[in-house]
Amino acid sequence: MAVAAKMSQFMEKSSWIRRMFEEGARLKKIHGEGGVFDFSLGNPNVPPPDIVREKLIELAKSEEHGMHAYMPNAGLVSTRSAMSAYFCQEFCISLAHEQVVVTCGAAGGLNIIFKALLDPGDEVLCPAPYFVEYGFYADNHGGVLKTTPTLEPDFNLDLDRMQEEIGPRTKIVLINSPNNPTGQVYPEESIARLGQILRAKSSQFGHVIYLVSDEPYRKIVYDNCCVPCVFVHYPDSLITSSYSKDLSLPGERIGFVALSPSASDGTKIIDALALANRILGFVNAPAIMQRLVVELQGVCVDVDIYKAKRDRLVSALTEFGYELTVPRGAFYLFPKSPLPDDIQFVRLLQEENILCVPGSGFAGPGHIRIAYCVDDSTIEGALPGFERAMKRSKGI
Ligand SMILES: Cc1ncc(COP(=O)(O)O)c(C=O)c1O
Repeated sequence: MAVAAKMSQFMEKSSWIRRMFEEGARLKKIHGEGGVFDFSLGNPNVPPPDIVREKLIELAKSEEHGMHAYMPNAGLVSTRSAMSAYFCQEFCISLAHEQVVVTCGAAGGLNIIFKALLDPGDEVLCPAPYFVEYGFYADNHGGVLKTTPTLEPDFNLDLDRMQEEIGPRTKIVLINSPNNPTGQVYPEESIARLGQILRAKSSQFGHVIYLVSDEPYRKIVYDNCCVPCVFVHYPDSLITSSYSKDLSLPGERIGFVALSPSASDGTKIIDALALANRILGFVNAPAIMQRLVVELQGVCVDVDIYKAKRDRLVSALTEFGYELTVPRGAFYLFPKSPLPDDIQFVRLLQEENILCVPGSGFAGPGHIRIAYCVDDSTIEGALPGFERAMKRSKGI
């Protein structure tokens, strides 16, 4: 077989979004682009702020020597400094540029963290539902992803359960807030208690358990919601984030990892992260993007655009009888599937030319994920189909 057995297995496992993509392409051929309502991908549809294009044009014209050269694997000092300065301003925590590594998006960030911290067989514990790539990333570096359920209906952390499930092989607890696929933002009290649990468990098992917070949606929050900073609550923590969602630049692969200034073995970890960037073949994050984000700290797409989409869908779907918790962040809704089998309901939606991902694809069976980072016309066009699918699921 040409493809390695494990990869063949992974290709099968990761196939939900791919299947949706293929189904979308098939339906679009029949019904045209406007006849298919595609909520399957978390690809931001709001264009990057104008200043992104202006700064990019400036950078493209620059004749500065070494603009496109290799650089230190952790990134340009100017970029790391701008990122740490913004961090200090946002969280009132003093963070030196040496605590920051510039990465190829949050995905690159997670991979260098796992490469730096995991020994073969080490476990990464993550609340479910979760971003499905986590399992592959852990496996990339010899780790094993373990999941722990969250509390319904709002998908908050089940801290008692987490406490039970953190074991001697747990090296990392990985959280994602605002969450993909649920849109949940974990409240400060939950993070504070998680910090206490991790201190106790680290001392029980005689090794540090790291808290990794994956935050590419940090700025996409609604209703004055704030994402708590894990550094305040636990010393051995790392944050990875990116500009993929808040500047609508997912194709440009730019993000960062920040290590808490209170982490033990901090210098060693940063050196390991930088080496991981190099030997995983990223080498460094794209030079032009590093220069771009220096001046764009704190800039964000207009979150009210996503909020309006969320509100429109929440109110219409609720009226049609869908059960859901109003998400406070990201751009996903995760309503209950009206049929016990979410895959069957997703098929029913497909018959209405609506593409969503079954919750099973995120270890959240019995739900569907609706990515509402789409044009308003897609939302409006899909509403009658959502209503009909609900009625059909009830045999009406
Ligand atoms: C939860 C989560 N983490 C990480 C990523 C990867 O983000 P990036 O494009 O910054 O690598 C995504 C992308 O959708 C995501 O949803």
